[in-house]
Amino acid sequence: MDATAGRGWVAILGLATLLAALPVATRAADHSIIETSFGRAEGREVELYTLTNRHGIEARIMTYGAAIVSLRTPDREGRLGNIVLGFDSLAPYLAGVPYFGAAVGRYANRIAGGHFILAGKSYELAHNDGPNSLHGGARGFDKRIWQAQVLPSSATAVALRLTYRSAAGEEGYPGELTAHVTYRLQDDDRLAIEYQATTSAPTPVNLANHAYFNLSGDPHLSILNHVLTIRASRFTPVDAHLIPTGELRSVDNTAFDFRAPHAIGSRIESQDEQLRLGHGYDHNWVLDKPLPGAMAVAAVLSDALSGRTLQIETTQPGLQFYSGNFLDGKPAGHGTVFDFRTGLCLETQHFPDSPNHPGFPSTLLRPGETYSERTVLAFGLQPR
Ligand code: BGC
Repeated sequence: MDATAGRGWVAILGLATLLAALPVATRAADHSIIETSFGRAEGREVELYTLTNRHGIEARIMTYGAAIVSLRTPDREGRLGNIVLGFDSLAPYLAGVPYFGAAVGRYANRIAGGHFILAGKSYELAHNDGPNSLHGGARGFDKRIWQAQVLPSSATAVALRLTYRSAAGEEGYPGELTAHVTYRLQDDDRLAIEYQATTSAPTPVNLANHAYFNLSGDPHLSILNHVLTIRASRFTPVDAHLIPTGELRSVDNTAFDFRAPHAIGSRIESQDEQLRLGHGYDHNWVLDKPLPGAMAVAAVLSDALSGRTLQIETTQPGLQFYSGNFLDGKPAGHGTVFDFRTGLCLETQHFPDSPNHPGFPSTLLRPGETYSERTVLAFGLQPR
C-alpha cells in the first residue's frame, strides 16, 4: 500500500476512533473491514485489519502471528472497551510477549521432553519451556507473518483469512503444513475463528487462539472476580512440568468443578496439589460433548462490573483454562504493563502432549486429510 493511501486509512481510523467513543446505541453503521500498516518485521510489512460489525463491535487482527490485537465490545452502558490484553504498536510483540491474542501452532500447548515418535521415527523439538516444547517451539506460528486475504462480505458478516505455510522440518515438525485461520465477525455479535490445515507428510497439529480476556475492559483489574462456567466433568491432571499424567480425572468435589458458575478467585488459593503445580489454573478440561467433534458450548465467562459475558463454543475436545499466573508486569517499557492474573486464556484445543498419549484424541494429520476446527466467541450482556 502506498503512503498516500496510508494517510487516507489513518483519516478513516481517526473517524472510527471518534465513533467508537460514542455509545453503541447512537450509532447505526454498516459492517466493514479496513487495512492499515502496523509496522515492519523481518523486512516485511505487517498489516492490521479492523473488522467492525453493525453494532460497532470491533476486532483488530494483525498478520504477525495472525493475532487478535484488540477486541472491543459494549458494556452494559453501551460503552465499547477492549476485552483482550494487547498493544497499540508492533514493537512489544516483536520484543516478546507471552502469545497475546496469537494463533499458536504447529502444536499449541506442551509436548513432553520436546519429543515424539511417529511411524517409528523420532522427532526432536525445541525445549522452550523447561524440558518441554511449548506452543510450536522457539519460533512457532505466533512469531510468523501470515498472508491475509479479505473474504467477500456476506449480508451478515465480514471475514479475514490468514494463511501460513510452515516448511517441512520447521521447528522439527515433519511435512509442509498449510494452515488457514479465518476470523469471521458476525452481525449477531459472534466472532467465529475457523482453522483449516493440510500437510505433505503425517504430522501432529493443534491450533488454538491465545487471547487473554479481561472483560472489565480495564487491563489493570484482576480477573479473579470474573465468573466462569466450564462444561466439563473431567480434566487432565498434570505433573510438575505441566504435562498431563494421562489420567482423565473427575472434577467432582474439586476446585476444578466449574459445571456451575464460580468466581475464578473463589477457590484458586485452596489447598490442592493440582493448583499448586499449575501456580493456579493452568489445565486442560475434557469437554462434555454429545459427539466427538460436535460444536458445543465449552465455557461461559462473565464480569459483573461491566456486565459483559463471553460464551465460547467449539468443535475441539479440550479447553486449556490458564488464569494468567505467569503474567508479572513484563514486558515493561511499552506503556501498558500486564500484572499477575489480569488476563485469562480459554484456549479451545486438543489435549496437551497428545502425540505421547495414544489414549487421547488423535492430533495426527495425514496427507489428503483436512484439519478443520471451529471456535465461536459470542459477546453478550448480563440481564440487568
Ligand atoms: C500455558 C501457560 C503458559 C502460557 C503462556 C498457556 O497456554 O498453559 O502455562 O505460561 O500459555 O506461555
